[in-house]
Parts: sequence; C-alpha cells; structure tokens
Amino acid sequence: MTSERTCYVYIILPGEVALVTAGRFTLTPTADGQAVGRFVYGRKYLARPDGVEIDPVELKLSDRPFETATLGGFFGAIRDAMPDSWGRRIIQKRSGHTQLEEFDYLLESAEDRAGALGFGLNVEPPTPSKEFNRTLQLEQLQAAADAIIRDGGEPEDEVARQADELLFRGSSMGGARPKAVIEDGGALWIAKFSQSEDRWNHPKVEHALLRLAGSCGLDVADSRIVTVAERNVLLVRRFDRDHRADGFRRHRMVSALTLLRADDSATDRANWSYLLLADEIRRSSGDPNADLTELYKRICFNAAVSNLDDHPRNHAIITKDRNWRLSPAYDLTPAPVSATSQRDLAMECGANGRYANRANIVAGHGRFYLDREEAERIFDDIIETVRTGWLPQMRHIGVGEADCTRISKAFLYDGLFYE
Ligand SMILES: Nc1ncnc2c1ncn2[C@@H]1O[C@H](COP(=O)(O)OP(=O)(O)OP(=O)(O)O)[C@@H](O)[C@H]1O
Ligand SMILES: [Mg+2]
Repeated sequence: MTSERTCYVYIILPGEVALVTAGRFTLTPTADGQAVGRFVYGRKYLARPDGVEIDPVELKLSDRPFETATLGGFFGAIRDAMPDSWGRRIIQKRSGHTQLEEFDYLLESAEDRAGALGFGLNVEPPTPSKEFNRTLQLEQLQAAADAIIRDGGEPEDEVARQADELLFRGSSMGGARPKAVIEDGGALWIAKFSQSEDRWNHPKVEHALLRLAGSCGLDVADSRIVTVAERNVLLVRRFDRDHRADGFRRHRMVSALTLLRADDSATDRANWSYLLLADEIRRSSGDPNADLTELYKRICFNAAVSNLDDHPRNHAIITKDRNWRLSPAYDLTPAPVSATSQRDLAMECGANGRYANRANIVAGHGRFYLDREEAERIFDDIIETVRTGWLPQMRHIGVGEADCTRISKAFLYDGLFYE
C-alpha cells in the first residue's frame, strides 16, 4: 500500500432498510511498510437518537477517533464485512487484477455482505439493491462456480459472463467454499455448492448435521437441500437479514474472531479459545446465561461429531436491536480423521487446550456459568443424542450408505471419553 485510502462507512439501523452514513474509515501507510486504520463516527450520526455502535468491543459509540495498527489497520468489524477466500477469487476475476489491495476488496465487494455495514466513496450512501438471484438461477451459478474452481473460469460467451455477474452478487459472504446468495420465499439464503474434490455429499451431510445439532438442543440456522442439474445444493437461511415489504432489514453481526481480537492467520491463534470467547460473551451479551450454556453445548456437539473446523469465523454474535446475542450455529462438518486417542478442536476448549475430550471440556464449566453436574449432564445428553441419532438423521436426509460409512469415524471417537 503506497498512499492513504479513505471511505465512508454506512449502516442499516435497527428496524430500517436504508443505509445511513455512520462514519469514515481511513487507512494510512506507515514508514515501516505497515498501515494504521482510523475510524471516526460522523457528528450527524452521533446526534441521532437511534444511532447504534458498530460493534460492542472496538467501535463503541464515541466522538473520539479510533485507531488500530493490528490486522493491517482494519478494525475487526470492518474485516468481518470483507470477503474471504471465495469472495476474493470472484472479485479478482471480475476486476481482472490479482494484485488488489485489502482496501480494494472492501470497496469492491458486493453489498450483500454479512451484517449491517456498507462502504463507499460518497458521503451519501447508495440505495440498497432489491434484486437478488433466485433459485431458478442456481444452475447457472453452480456452473459458474465450477468454472472458477476448474480453470479460473474465463467467460467464453455471453451466458457465462452473465453467470459471473450473478455469482458476484453475494460474493462477499465469508468462507472458502463456493457459494452465492439467493432469494427464495421472501428470505435470503446462502447457497453452498458441492465441489468436485468433495469426498462425500457435503450439502446433504452439512444439512443433516445442522438438523442433528438442532435435535441436541442447539440453536441452529434453518437449512434445506435443493437439487440443481442432478447435484445437491445446501441452502442456509441468512439470520442477519429479515424481509420487509420495502426491502431487507440487516442485523449487525460480529465474528468471534473480532470478539477475541484475533486474526485468522496460523501464527495468531493464541486467542482462539472458547473460554476467552465465553468471557467476551459474558460482557457483550444481553443474556449471558443463555448464551454461555448454548456455547458450551456447541463445544460438546463439535467434539461429539469431530467438527474440527470450528474456527472463530464460524461463531458470531448478532443484534436485531441493541441486544447482542450469540448467533445460531452454522457451518458444521464432520471430520472423519483417523486419530482415535486425541482430536483437537480449532479453539481451546478446556484446561487441557483444544483436546476434544469429556474431562477437558467439563473442567471448563465455571467459565460458562455451569456447575459440574450440569456440565456433565449436558455433555452426556448430547453424546447420547448423537450416538442414537446421527445415522438415522443422515439416512433421513438421503445421505447414501457409502457416504455414511465414509464419515462414520467422525462420530464419538474413543479419545472423547478418556479420563
Ligand atoms: N445462516 C447465516 N446467516 C448469516 N450469515 C451466515 C450464515 N451462515 C454463514 N454466514 C456467514 O457466512 C460465512 C461463510 O459461511 P460458512 O462458514 O458456512 O462457509 P464456508 O465457506 O464453509 O466457511 P469455511 O471457510 O469456514 O469452511 C460465515 O463465516 C458467516 O460470516
Ligand atoms: Mg465457515
């Protein structure tokens, strides 16, 4: 980055469907090749009686400027609104540049990014689009996603070019798997496609796992399967959008990565911890008791099904008004690894680090406002539901027997119960 970059930050306030200007974000290069980010809330915004904070950790409402030198100068809540690896591929392809600056990804990304923020160069915010892709377009979207994975996907003809445009809408959702955002039945859904390298039917297995988590008493995102050109696509209903006659309400959403003030690089994982996340939720949640019990259940569930990709971008808090709450669970996948004595979750889950193990997990009970007996009971109940329920649930969703065998090692591995 060689020169200073600046943009306006817009937000959709609770109950509204139009963007308003909240403040201004500036990124300034420093002599050592790094950058410093600066955010100030606008005076007009601060004077509004209905103005809300962008996030409950870093950018609380205040008239003083905020500065950060971590994450390359990007505040966590702004980073959360930026595309992740999948969305970046789409933007690179669309712009024809592979050497984009972080700031470009912020400005270039589609407006249906997670949460309630928007970014632009004009002080006046744009009108949010009411046009979304439809289920009908899923086949085109899937084909465009395939082409991008296969060969960078040069659009050969007009149809392919149009499909790329469709794919671009919704490209700013995070994550690595190919996906698009579509509207169906008045709601917005994230469509998660299969990939040729998948070792089992990912859409169906993820759907079944979400259902299984629901039957274990977890609060989960709503989902369903659609079939497009003989392939299954998972639709996960967006919990950060609510339909209204005049548009979509958008709810602010902040990832656990931001709550933990962490980065997703492999070298910055010291803060990747459910225990630290519990501490943060205790501070920011409108109902810490309920949210901490829920978070604890998610640890037990993830351990039971070896969802080892439970990194801090796969947890979030969300608010529809002024009350921040843990978001529903999403992105659950079993990892049928061969280790039988020790598997590690992506985040620290007890006194013995990341070890997915009953004694380790139960030992952390105090951090979740639970006494030991409650913590043991919750763990054991979830284990029981997973033990009796995982295979029937997979079959019910239509996961084939060969796939059930492939993923079976993920469930209730031996080390879970070592003393
Ligand atoms: N139901 C939902 N409503 C709103 N936002 C969601 C929902 N599900 C996921 N998200 C957001 O979209 C991002 C990507 O979704 P998800 O984690 O399911 O995809 P992924 O590509 O499988 O991710 P990963 O790279 O972790 O494997 C999430 O990190 C989260 O910010
Ligand atoms: Mg994810």
